[in-house]
Amino acid sequence: MAFGIPPEVIEEIKSRCDIVEVIGSYLPLKRSGSSNFKGLCPFHQEKTPSFHVDGARQMFHCFGCGKGGDVVRFVMDKDNLTFVDALHMLAARAGVIIPEYSAAGNPEEARRRGSIRERLLAANELMASFFAENLKRSPNGPVGSYLRSRGLSLEEALHFKIGAAPDGWTAGLEFARSKGFTDEEMVMAGLARKKEGSNRFYDQFRGRLTFAITNEQGRVCGFSARSLEAKPVDGGKYINTPETPVFRKGNLLYGMALARKAIADNNLAVLCEGQMDTIAFHRAGINFAVAPLGTAFTPEQAKVLKRYTSRLLLAFDADGAGMKAVERAAEILLPLSMDVKVIHIPGGKDPDELYSSGGREAVAAVLDEARPLLSVLTSRLSDKFDLNTPVGRGEAAAWVANYLKLVENQVELETYVAEAARMLRVSVEAIYSELADLRKIERRKIIRPETEQIQPVPQKPVRERMVYPAALLSLLELAVNSSDAARQIAEMLSAEELVSADPVTEALNLMINASLNGEPEQGIEEIKNRLTERPSPEISRILVEHADCPDVPRAVSDSVASFRKLKNQEKKQALLVQLSRAVTPGEKMELLKAVAALK
Ligand code: CTP
Ligand code: MN
Repeated sequence: MAFGIPPEVIEEIKSRCDIVEVIGSYLPLKRSGSSNFKGLCPFHQEKTPSFHVDGARQMFHCFGCGKGGDVVRFVMDKDNLTFVDALHMLAARAGVIIPEYSAAGNPEEARRRGSIRERLLAANELMASFFAENLKRSPNGPVGSYLRSRGLSLEEALHFKIGAAPDGWTAGLEFARSKGFTDEEMVMAGLARKKEGSNRFYDQFRGRLTFAITNEQGRVCGFSARSLEAKPVDGGKYINTPETPVFRKGNLLYGMALARKAIADNNLAVLCEGQMDTIAFHRAGINFAVAPLGTAFTPEQAKVLKRYTSRLLLAFDADGAGMKAVERAAEILLPLSMDVKVIHIPGGKDPDELYSSGGREAVAAVLDEARPLLSVLTSRLSDKFDLNTPVGRGEAAAWVANYLKLVENQVELETYVAEAARMLRVSVEAIYSELADLRKIERRKIIRPETEQIQPVPQKPVRERMVYPAALLSLLELAVNSSDAARQIAEMLSAEELVSADPVTEALNLMINASLNGEPEQGIEEIKNRLTERPSPEISRILVEHADCPDVPRAVSDSVASFRKLKNQEKKQALLVQLSRAVTPGEKMELLKAVAALK
């Protein structure tokens, strides 16, 4: 496993990064043949294109200067990156997860290398097997009996990483101690708490059914624990892991590790409300179901799904809260151009009850009958507004236009506008004019009076594509995932080097400040705030993905070094330009000295 990246992952990265697309994002390419493209070589000066990209063979070659190779080689040469950095950059671009380095699953190695994240994952995995063993040991205990009452066999329960937290105060802690974990590590992992004003620690999860939560890579990073009492005395129906460096609820989806391959294969995901519903879908053969973790669906979770699929089925409860959830999901998903349908389960049941009573067929049937999101929202209009009054219809039109404006596809838009118009008993023009008022979409389809000036069709603003250096992105990733890293970066880089000229450097500065203040979460919050105003896929990706790094200090110094190298090259380039314009020998001398000093 050279460079710590498994060969199959390297293959996956290459196969998901089309060379034409990647090179096309650096320089303009012209088609010349069915899968061949041509452009001006970025590696030498030329006036006529001799730089060829072969889409079928996924190779590039310049007949002018002789450079050539695959997509990784291109990025290495173009951005001056090492093989590993180039792979990381391409992986981020394609949404491929690079698994952790050699400390993965090896808590002792992780401790030696000082990897906090790896220790926390190891602690969670240890507790998951502890809870599972505990359930196996007493299959007739409260959790075992409860599972049976819900129709789940022990094997199935274990497959879904369900367990039983013992009913004591410190059973988990004692077991973890025997395996070399400190109480502080257990607190940091969200698995234990410290009794206030004392030096005593106790288990976070006690006497409950536990669902282990895994990250995308299938590693246990937290738990959701259900009480088996009707009126739980300690905490609510569910107690979850608090936010930890490896457990960010808003970024995780329950069942994602089990479902992600099926989601990609089917280009379809089912989003339901909780653990039991997810499990019910999987038992019904719908193995592409996932759920948020007890919070409303977040934009981060949407982005995770979007990396695997463009189609989504929402399976929320049919009640008022469920409809609110559908509306909220619409606001998040429509701008992402996701094809979203809504599942309706008759009789107010949830998916789990549906499976228990009707089995696979019943579940398959409701999936088949899912209706487009916009149709569902439109059909809600009569519940929300008084459609018998002009005022009510006006309000309804304004409400639905807020969703319609998010639909990009013109054909779809027309369909939904027609539906809304029918529902509101108004003309389609009235809806379009509502949309035009929202100034978000073109008025192309409106029949205008002869006299009205035809407005030029507004062009979508061309999004500026910044290509960020991989070193800068990995510095941000390190800072986001570890405040130790953030502090180390602050020590190594000078203020001058940290001047923020772009959103990524700006985010890095935010993380460093927040970490120096001992509040890294604040930094993440602030970055998210800025993202809502100025989206950046690169930064979002860093916030949602946690590629674990066992040797943080080393990774920081490596990234700092390549970042510096890059900055130096930029500086040198600028100096050389100045040099070419310098007139006096004195000026030239100064500039030459400056260039020499850079080396
Ligand atoms: N949830 C939570 N905290 C609560 C209640 C719910 O975190 N106090 C989350 C859990 O992730 C749960 C989901 O919201 O899975 C859905 O809640 P609910 O429908 O109440 O739970 P179910 O999983 O359906 O559990 P059950 O069917 O056993 O009642
Ligand atoms: Mn339920």
